[in-house]
Amino acid sequence: MGFQGFALFGLVLISAFCTSVFGNQEGFLSLSCGANTSFVDAWNISWISDGAYITVGNTTTVSFNDGNSTPSVSLRFFPDNSEGRKCFRLPVNNTATVLVRGRFYYKNYDGLNRPPYFGVSLGTTTVATVNLSRFDPWVEEFVWPVGKKETLPFCLLPRTGGGTPVISSLEVRPLPAGAYKNGTGEFLSNSLRKRFRVNCGYTNGSLRYPWDSYDRIWDPDMNFSPTRTSTGFEIQQQLNFSTIQESPPARVLQSARVLARREILSYYFEFDKMGDYYLGLYFAGILPVSSTFDILINGVVVEANYSIEKSKASAFFLMQKAVSSLNITLRNISFYPQVNALEVYEMVEIRLECSSTAVSALQVIQESSGADLGWQDDPCSPTQWKHVGCQESLVVSLDLSGLNLRSINPTFGDLLDLQTLDLHNTSLTGPIQNLDSLQELQILNLSFNRLTSFGSDFSRLTFLQIIDLQNNSLEGTVPESLGSLPNLHLLNLENNKLQGTLPQSLNKQTLEVRISGNLCLSFTPSTCVNVQPRPTIQTPQVTYFNMRKKHGHHRNAIIIGAVAGGAFALMILGLFIFMCTRRSKQSDDNPSTSGTDMRSWNAAKIFSYKEIRSATNNFKEVIGRGSFGSVYLGKLTDGKQVAVKVRFDRTQLGSDSFVNEVYLLSQVRHQNLVSLEGFCHESKQQILVYEYVPGGSLADNLYGSNSKKRTLNWVRRLKIAVDAAKGLEYLHNGSNPRIIHRDVKSSNILLDLEMNAKVCDFGLSKQVAQADATHVTTVVKGTAGYLDPEYYSTQQLTEKSDVYSFGVVLLELICGREPLSHSGSPDTYNLVLWAKPYLQAGAFEIVDDNLKGIFDLESMRKVALIASRSVERDASQRPTMAEVLSELKDAYSIQLASLAASGHSG
Ligand SMILES: *[C@@H]1O[C@H](CO)[C@@H](O)[C@H](O)[C@H]1NC(C)=O
Ligand SMILES: *[C@@H]1O[C@H](CO)[C@@H](O)[C@H](O)[C@H]1NC(C)=O
Ligand SMILES: *[C@@H]1O[C@H](CO)[C@@H](O)[C@H](O)[C@H]1NC(C)=O
Ligand SMILES: *[C@@H]1O[C@H](CO)[C@@H](O)[C@H](O)[C@H]1NC(C)=O
Ligand SMILES: *[C@@H]1O[C@H](CO)[C@@H](O)[C@H](O)[C@H]1NC(C)=O
Ligand SMILES: *[C@@H]1O[C@H](CO)[C@@H](O)[C@H](O)[C@H]1NC(C)=O
Ligand SMILES: *[C@@H]1O[C@H](CO)[C@@H](O)[C@H](O)[C@H]1NC(C)=O
Ligand SMILES: *[C@@H]1O[C@H](CO)[C@@H](O)[C@H](O)[C@H]1NC(C)=O
Repeated sequence: MGFQGFALFGLVLISAFCTSVFGNQEGFLSLSCGANTSFVDAWNISWISDGAYITVGNTTTVSFNDGNSTPSVSLRFFPDNSEGRKCFRLPVNNTATVLVRGRFYYKNYDGLNRPPYFGVSLGTTTVATVNLSRFDPWVEEFVWPVGKKETLPFCLLPRTGGGTPVISSLEVRPLPAGAYKNGTGEFLSNSLRKRFRVNCGYTNGSLRYPWDSYDRIWDPDMNFSPTRTSTGFEIQQQLNFSTIQESPPARVLQSARVLARREILSYYFEFDKMGDYYLGLYFAGILPVSSTFDILINGVVVEANYSIEKSKASAFFLMQKAVSSLNITLRNISFYPQVNALEVYEMVEIRLECSSTAVSALQVIQESSGADLGWQDDPCSPTQWKHVGCQESLVVSLDLSGLNLRSINPTFGDLLDLQTLDLHNTSLTGPIQNLDSLQELQILNLSFNRLTSFGSDFSRLTFLQIIDLQNNSLEGTVPESLGSLPNLHLLNLENNKLQGTLPQSLNKQTLEVRISGNLCLSFTPSTCVNVQPRPTIQTPQVTYFNMRKKHGHHRNAIIIGAVAGGAFALMILGLFIFMCTRRSKQSDDNPSTSGTDMRSWNAAKIFSYKEIRSATNNFKEVIGRGSFGSVYLGKLTDGKQVAVKVRFDRTQLGSDSFVNEVYLLSQVRHQNLVSLEGFCHESKQQILVYEYVPGGSLADNLYGSNSKKRTLNWVRRLKIAVDAAKGLEYLHNGSNPRIIHRDVKSSNILLDLEMNAKVCDFGLSKQVAQADATHVTTVVKGTAGYLDPEYYSTQQLTEKSDVYSFGVVLLELICGREPLSHSGSPDTYNLVLWAKPYLQAGAFEIVDDNLKGIFDLESMRKVALIASRSVERDASQRPTMAEVLSELKDAYSIQLASLAASGHSG
C-alpha cells in the first residue's frame, strides 16, 4: 500500500455522491435584507426580500471592491436612535432545531467610515455582538432548538455609541431531528454559536448546499491544520452515514486529514473569550484499513483507543467548560488516525421566558391604554421593554406614569412578581382595586389620579414599604388594614378627601404618615369634632323595580325600600331571608307540609335544605365545579333532572351575586337561557336549582378531556353560536328591564343532547333599570380573556361588553382554542390579539384544523367579520347583539344551503 511515506494525506473522493445530495430547499428561508426582488444565487438558493418579516429600518445597496470584482449587496439599516430591538420575526413552523445565519456588511455604505457594533439576539437571548470594525462582512450562525414555537424573533440590539445596526441577509434552515442534542441540552437550554466548521483534508473552497442538504457551510481546513499540503486521494467506497444524527454531507466526509505513523495530528482553536464549547468530530472509514487512536483535548485523553472501521462512519461529541482555546489531538495507536470533519460551537445559555400570564397581562394593559408602547415578544429578554423592569425572567417593576389607563384593571393582578408599581398620573378613577394578589409589592405609587376609594385590602401585601396616594379624590376613612403592614415606612395620603380618625395602628415610630390637605384627618378624635365623618350609608331612597312575571304579564310594581349605592341587592336578600325563615319556621312547626307549601317567587320554587339533600342523593354526583362552588346532579320528586349549584359559604359579595342570580333568573324565561327551577337559602346554604342541561358546556366540548371537538363541525358550531346569541339578544332587548350578562364565556354556554345551546350563570349579571340609561358604572368583574378592555378601563358597563365577550366565544369556535393559551409564542397567548388581524384579512389558516376544508367560505367570512367587529377595542365600533345574531343566522343558512347543494351534487 502506498500510504507510508506520506506525512499527511488529504483524501478526496469525488465519486457517485455528487448526484445523490441535491436537496429541494424544503423549509429554507433566505431573506435578502433590503432587496426589491427575488433571485436565485450561484448555489441555486432562492432569495426573497425581507420586507414581509420586519416593519422597521431603511434600505439601500452598496458596491465594494472585492479584489477581482465589485459585488453589490442590499442592506437594511436602522438609523433611528431609539434603543428598542429591531426584530425580524422568522417563521419556524415547530421545527425541532434550526440553523440561523445572519450576514452583516458595512462597506461604508453611508460614506461615514464609521463601522457600527451592535448586539444580536435570538428569541430571548443575546447571542453575539457584531463588530464591523473587526470584520466586514461579519457572519454569525446559530443552531437554535425551537421547541414548540411558530415564530423566532431575530433582533439587532443597538448599543450606546455603537452606531447604526445594519444587516444584509438572514437564512433559516431546518436541521435533522435530534441533531446536536447534547449541545442544545435536554431542556433545550442552549443555543450553539458556530465558531469553526472544517472540512478536514479539503482545501479547495467552502462547501454548502446542495452538497449539504441542510446548507451548513463547511470551510476548507488549510487555515487550521498543520501547514503541509495534502495530496488528493480517491477511494471508491460506499459509506453508511445513517448512524450520525447530524447527517454530515457525504461530500465532506469523503476527505480527511490522515496521520502517518508516530506523528501527531492537531487542530488548535483559540477563542476571544472564555466559555463553554461544544465540539463534534466526524470520522468515516474511507481508508482500506481500520485505525485506532487516542483523542486528547487540551492535553487530556478524552477517549482512548477510538477506532474507525473500514466503511463505517461515526461521530464523537464533547463539551468543554470554561476554556478559551481548544487543542484537539489524535495520537496514534495503530495505523492511520484520521479526522474527516469537525465543528466547534460556543454554547450560549438560552434565557428563560417570562410567564405567559405576565406577558399576556402586559399585552392587555398595552391594548387597553390605547398607546403603542412597542411591546413585542418577551418583556425581559433580550432587552427589557420600555416601562418594564425585570429580575431574570420576572417582571418586577412597571412604570406607566403619564399614560391614560383610567382604572386599575384586573390584569394588574396577574403581574404577580411586581415589586414596584408606579401608576402616578395615569388618569385613574374609581376604587383602588385588583392589587390584592401582588404579594411581592414593595412600592406602590398611585399619586396624582382621581381614585375615589380603598377597594383593595392591603393586609396581605406585607412587603409594602411605600404607598403614595397623594393628590387623589379618596373619600371616607383610612382602612385599619394599612396599620398591619410590618414594613410600611411611608404612607402619603396628602391632598385627598379623607376624614375621621386615623387607625392607631398607623401611629408608630417606623412609619411616616403624611396627611395634610385632607378634610379632617388626625390620630386624635377630639380635633375633628366639627367635621363628623359623613355617614357611610346615605339617606334611604325608594327605588322602583319593574318586575315581570313570565309571559310578560306585568305585576303591580313592587316598591322595595332600598338604600342607595347599589345596596338594593342586600334588600332583596333581606326579603329572601325573611321568606326562607318564615318558610322554615313553618316547616319546623309542621314538617308534614314540607313540599306542598312551596312559595313561588315568580317562577322559582323555594326548596328546603333537606329537599335538596334528598334530590341530590346526599350530593352524590358532581357534574361541575367553579370558583363559586360545585354543581350536583339532582332529581326532583316529579322525576325531573336538575343541576344543583351549591355555593360555598360566601362573603357579602357572594350573597349579592346569589340574590342577583335568583332575582334575574326568576324573571327571564327563554329557550336559550338556562332556567331556574328554584333555590334554597337556609342559614349558610346558598343553593340554586336549575334545569339540567346534559351535554356539558361548550368549553368542555371544545377542550375537555373527552372533547368532541372533531364532531363539532362548522354547522354545529354555527347553530351553537346562533342559539347563544339568541339568549343574549333576549337579555339585552327582550327582557324588561334589560340585563347585561357580564360573564359570557364558553364555559357558560351549555349544550343539551340535541346540541341546542343555553346560556347560564347569571351571578354577575346586571340590570339596566332605567330605560334610557346608556351604561352603568360598576366594579369590574368577569373572566380573564373575555373581558372587554374598554369596560375595565372606564368601568362603564354596557351591552357592548357582552358583545365583546361573545366575540371571544366566536373566535374560540372558529379557531378551536382557548382565549388565553399558555404555550406557543407571546403573540399567540391572547386569542383576540392573535386572531383578529388574520380574520380581518380573510386569512383563514388559523381556522381550527378540525374545520379545515369543510366550511363554506362565505359563511366563515361572515362569522370571522362579525367576530372581529365584536372584539373591537372601541365599544362604539362593535355591533349590537341583534346585529350579531342576524349575521350569524345568515352565516348558518349559507352553510346549510352549501351543504344541501353539495349533498345534491355529491
Ligand atoms: C434549482 O432548484 C430547483 C428547486 O429549488 C430545482 O428544481 C432545480 O433543478 C435546481 N437547479 C439546479 C441546476 O440544481
Ligand atoms: C430612513 O427612512 C425614513 C423614513 O422613510 C427617512 O425619514 C429617513 O431620512 C431615512 N434615513 C436615512 C438615514 O436614510
Ligand atoms: C428598489 O426599487 C426602487 C425602484 O424600483 C429603486 O429606486 C431602489 O433603488 C431599489 N432598491 C434596491 C435596494 O434595490
Ligand atoms: C409546516 O411544515 C409542514 C410539514 O413539514 C408543511 O406542510 C406546512 O406547510 C408548513 N407550514 C408553514 C406555515 O410553513
Ligand atoms: C471593535 O473592533 C475594533 C477593532 O478590532 C476594536 O478596536 C473595538 O474596541 C471593538 N469594539 C467593541 C465594542 O468591541
Ligand atoms: C449525551 O449526553 C448523555 C448524558 O450526558 C450521554 O449519556 C450520551 O451518550 C451523550 N450522547 C452523545 C451523542 O454524546
Ligand atoms: C478546485 O475547484 C475548482 C472549481 O471550484 C476546480 O475548477 C478545480 O479543478 C478544483 N481544484 C482541485 C485541485 O480540485
Ligand atoms: C446503514 O446502517 C443502518 C444501521 O446501522 C442500517 O439499518 C441500514 O440498513 C444501513 N444502510 C445501508 C445503505 O447500508
